[in-house]
Amino acid sequence: MQTPTLAPKHLLRTSDLSLSQIESILNKAQVYKDMQHREILKNKTIITIFFENSTRTLSSFEIAAKRLGADVIRLDVSKSSTAKGESMSDTAANLNAMKPNAIIIRHKNAGAGYYLKSQVSCPIINGGDGAHAHPTQALLDLLTLKEHFDNDLHNLKGKKIAIIGDIKNSRVANSNIELLSRFGMEVILVAPPHFLPPTTLRTTHNLREIAKEVDVFMSLRTQTERHDKQIYGSLKDYASQYCLTLEILGDTNAIVLHPGPVHRNIDIDDEVLKDSRCKVLEQVTNGVCVRMAVLEFCCA
Ligand code: NCD
Repeated sequence: MQTPTLAPKHLLRTSDLSLSQIESILNKAQVYKDMQHREILKNKTIITIFFENSTRTLSSFEIAAKRLGADVIRLDVSKSSTAKGESMSDTAANLNAMKPNAIIIRHKNAGAGYYLKSQVSCPIINGGDGAHAHPTQALLDLLTLKEHFDNDLHNLKGKKIAIIGDIKNSRVANSNIELLSRFGMEVILVAPPHFLPPTTLRTTHNLREIAKEVDVFMSLRTQTERHDKQIYGSLKDYASQYCLTLEILGDTNAIVLHPGPVHRNIDIDDEVLKDSRCKVLEQVTNGVCVRMAVLEFCCA
């Protein structure tokens, strides 16, 4: 008798995961904070294919896969056949024929992972698609918040987070709004009008007005690559209102998050980056551990 084949477990957006799956991924990620090498994905092959630039996400996924003993093949998109005019469908069919155990994709088009998923038989993990979703970034942000609030996700309920910047074009904002709202956080969107999406959430153009009431600031980079034309005066003008400075933080205990890359002195001021309330490098460390747990969840 043939053994039934289970459907591959993809991670394309945070809503693919139930609350209990999220909790167990975060618990597993915390086990992986010991940074030990494991053999959980020994003999598995993981392909990374990034059609958009990345420093953190690509290296974080590759370190995570290697730390679990997997073989990692990075497809260099600039040298791949896609750059020679091969269609995405043919690239996908060829990748699938190599029988990988998972493919991690980043693409400028929202929904690229859904298309790939329909063409292959292994799990697809979304490393960021256009302005749509970046699920592992939101999960690592959630882990950083859990650790800050006494290692208990229940403590997030009722806490206020200001997401600041180019929210309309940000997959990080989208994924965090979905995920953090599910854990009961109140999300306030802080941006100039041209960076605000249509929303039912509370919004403001005035960062100073909400600075004293929030528990977390999440600053975002201006996504210039997703603008068809310059839609703001200058980054300097933007910074004068939205850059997180020590003066804006004042004596609050609120923490500062940013997915990187940080535009220094535009998103976050140099002095805040040095302040102990700034958790940007903890987010990077948590990223590796969360991606280990996600890889295990999708392909062990
Ligand atoms: C983000 C991304 O690429 O979506 N960065 C990241 O993954 N660390 C945010 C950004 O590019 O601004």
